[in-house]
Amino acid sequence: MTSTTVVVIGAGPAGMTVATLLQHSGIDCVVLERSSRDHVAQRQRAGIVETRAVRMFESWGLTDRVLGGVPYDGILEFRVDGHSHLVSDSDGSQGPAARLCPQQVLVQKLTATFLEGGGDLRFEAADVSLHDLTGERPTVRYRAPDGTPRAITCAFVAGCDGDRGVSRTAVPDGVLTAHAFDHGIGWLTVLADAPPPAHPLLAVSRQGFAAHFPRGPHSSRYYLQCPPDDHPDAWSETRVWDALRTRLGDPALASGPITDREIFRLRSLVHDPMQYGRLFLVGDAAHIVSPMGGKGMNLALYDADLLARAVRDVVRGDDDTALRTYSSRCLRRVWNDQEFSHWLTRTLHDAGDAEPFLRNLARARLDRLFNSPASAGAFAELMTGLDPTGRTVTENLPGNLSGVGGD
Ligand code: APR
Repeated sequence: MTSTTVVVIGAGPAGMTVATLLQHSGIDCVVLERSSRDHVAQRQRAGIVETRAVRMFESWGLTDRVLGGVPYDGILEFRVDGHSHLVSDSDGSQGPAARLCPQQVLVQKLTATFLEGGGDLRFEAADVSLHDLTGERPTVRYRAPDGTPRAITCAFVAGCDGDRGVSRTAVPDGVLTAHAFDHGIGWLTVLADAPPPAHPLLAVSRQGFAAHFPRGPHSSRYYLQCPPDDHPDAWSETRVWDALRTRLGDPALASGPITDREIFRLRSLVHDPMQYGRLFLVGDAAHIVSPMGGKGMNLALYDADLLARAVRDVVRGDDDTALRTYSSRCLRRVWNDQEFSHWLTRTLHDAGDAEPFLRNLARARLDRLFNSPASAGAFAELMTGLDPTGRTVTENLPGNLSGVGGD
């Protein structure tokens, strides 16, 4: 039986960040990933690494190694009934800012960094199961690609295997509380080889919400609000481009070949606590945030940073304070970002064809955002994940415990 300090389950953004930060701290770990390396490296999802997360990697001296993509100028375009309003996330703080870095680029670079550093990453690990999580030495069992059963004992397990992984299911019923919310909104998401917008674009019109985001120098992702139980087949290419041109208020919007199209429901979910015995849940395994505001991957990176630092405190200094408070510190930020995401979701979707009272409330919120410096400042703080002093929002809340954001 192999022995290590941490078994990391899942090699997405959460798992590879935990693994790379542990490796950087000289702490051994083994990563078990169900899929193949190619599959994980190609999964397209989130696209923005927020300012706080960029500075987190900077504090580990890893920015150049793990962050690809291009710097983001922090400008977001809101288009309301065809009228453009540019909103900046600039908060006046010094230091590197957010990057437009697709999730798969981040995962590929983290994986390469970890493997080049001699990291132990096992792809195509089947039937992963967790045992003795409340004991001194938990065991993780799995089957190697040739079918051979394997077992690894460890001090800690990092459950980074997403919303449908096995880590959370190893926790006995009744230990975790699931706070689930269905926004009652569907999104048709379309990936196309079509020119990206000048700035990430969020559009509101009477026909509903639409968005246009860069996904590389020659590709874009688009979102169209639709009924949650709609079917992608109901959206022909012509209908997609017509709806985008109308809702984005841009009759000349360039089209291109559509490479992917799906519909999903906007939902949010938080599991509390994010810990059971020696198992620590990280990223989507613990929480799902609706995509509005781009917080999903950034929350995963936040959890990963906290967990790596907490394990380091235990291994190097025999101090388990940060590990004991891991869940409460993560959840504070999770709820902060859930609130932001919910606010933005409601504002942009109610401003369309919702009932008139809600529509007027939503448009009043947008009016305030475009015209009140205080509102714009609060928005920038939430977008970057920083407050004006450049420290993390969570750090500055009264009664918070230290250990976040700087080395
Ligand atoms: N055993 C091993 N690995 C597993 C198992 C399992 N039983 N189940 C899932 N995995 C792997 C998946 O194959 C995937 O590579 O765990 C990884 C989980 O990655 P993500 O789902 O991307 O979750 P996370 O790393 O928390 O990233 C969260 O990324 O995709 C976005 O919306 C998401 O932005 C959020 C962020």
